[in-house]
Amino acid sequence: MANEKIIILDFGSQYTQIIARKVRELGVYAEIYPFSISEAEFKSLNPKGLILSGGPSSVYAETAPHPSFDVFAQGIPVLGICYGLQLMAYQLGGAVDKAAKREYGRAHLIAEKDEILFKDISSDSVVWMSHGDSLTKMPDGFKVIAHTDNAPICAISCSEKQIWGVQFHPEVHHSSEGKKILENFVRVICNCTGNWNAHSFIESAIEKIREQVGNDEVICALSGGVDSTVLAVLLHKAIGDKLHCIHIDTGLMRLNESKKLMDLFAQHFDMSMELIEGEETFLGRLNGVSDPEQKRKIIGKSFIDLFEVAAKRFNNARWLAQGTLYPDVIESVSVKGPSVVIKSHHNVGGLPEQMNMKVLEPFRELFKDEVRAVGRELGVPDWFVNRHPFPGPGLGIRILGEITKDKIEVLQKADAIYIEEIRNAGLYDDIWQAFAVLLPVSSVGVMGDERTYENVCAIRAVTSTDGMTADWFAFPPEVLGRISSRIINEVRGINRVVYDITSKPPGTIEWE
Ligand code: XMP
Repeated sequence: MANEKIIILDFGSQYTQIIARKVRELGVYAEIYPFSISEAEFKSLNPKGLILSGGPSSVYAETAPHPSFDVFAQGIPVLGICYGLQLMAYQLGGAVDKAAKREYGRAHLIAEKDEILFKDISSDSVVWMSHGDSLTKMPDGFKVIAHTDNAPICAISCSEKQIWGVQFHPEVHHSSEGKKILENFVRVICNCTGNWNAHSFIESAIEKIREQVGNDEVICALSGGVDSTVLAVLLHKAIGDKLHCIHIDTGLMRLNESKKLMDLFAQHFDMSMELIEGEETFLGRLNGVSDPEQKRKIIGKSFIDLFEVAAKRFNNARWLAQGTLYPDVIESVSVKGPSVVIKSHHNVGGLPEQMNMKVLEPFRELFKDEVRAVGRELGVPDWFVNRHPFPGPGLGIRILGEITKDKIEVLQKADAIYIEEIRNAGLYDDIWQAFAVLLPVSSVGVMGDERTYENVCAIRAVTSTDGMTADWFAFPPEVLGRISSRIINEVRGINRVVYDITSKPPGTIEWE
């Protein structure tokens, strides 16, 4: 996509994606590849620099990941981080000691002032360590450029060969000058100009879409979420009336959600959008079903069926556009391999082959924050761009047990109050995702002088960067109090509100 590119080889670190995000924040496009990439493919990417990620292995272990070619002889600068540094030592004639002191958490870095990697950082900064093995013997031609109290060799370099290595993790937030160190690597050492941003992405994406699609027509299914909406706006800019947008109202949307989406398009974007009323199909097929996986499968299949019928009208359409993001792409190529299926996610997968369509995925290279930036640049209003993610199966997986129209209405009301109070408290943008869940549990209460026996509503709010891991959000107690009393007072059918304090892992974000 961009002409200046940094490649990150993944050796299995939990922080690999953060390296890519941080480099991109510096305006330099970065892509992650598995450590096993071939030399020919690597060369074809034409990178301006290479970063070797950390990883959980010891370089001496039999199963340790080793690149398939000499990554240090490619004529471009290399930065090894943690395992990347140890690999450097292992391959270039140094030594790593497994028995040395393990080190986790903060450390004070004492860095060489004149070293280019540490240009303009304070000489005594905090860095984040997370390693078992330590470097004990330097490879020939290298020098030590930083140390900590516990690690006499904390960073090394060989400027002649353009190789740098650090034992700490500059990519994590806790490394106070980490971003500056990465900036020194990509901007000063690799000489990248830093011209990658939402604007430049849009320009090159439009060009690429036009080239790919030619005169064909494209169908885009809009869920109402940020990714598919921004995608539709981008596609429309690229191919105009050759784009056909479809939105299926499943009857499992948030309160007035489909209407809000249609209004957004009518007010802000001059493009056609077809609304398909799917409530009858979805709720009919879900009638009496309470198993979570079965619900997900029914919902997925109903999407496909309704979509197929709608798409028949556009028989010149050869492409199906999808809002696949970079974390989904990396997940399937990462060093750990595709992860086990915890929940079968709904998407329109399976459809393209069935319908003989090609898949168009212009956001395959973007993180969620970047899609938001692209949306803003394309004129999608802030209130929409900053919206929390919403799952394809919608309220269907937030009404535990059997789904009925009455329960949907109860949950829609409670959820709307919850989100409204979060917005009123000015907390919406601090939260990755917040929603209410209707539990199939009744509890006794008293309202006025009357005994009540109604449902329990659980509310959930989490912080996260990508939905892969998450922590529960610590609301000020008075906000929780307001949410609870409003839901109980205003929503008939709920007489008790509980707050979910489960992180992910071990929980998942959704309850089903
Ligand atoms: P979990 O519940 O697996 O969710 O921790 C992680 C993120 O994915 C969203 N999610 C879905 N999104 N189709 C989607 O488009 C789905 O079937 C689906 N299930 C979960 C969830 O809301 C969270 O953001």
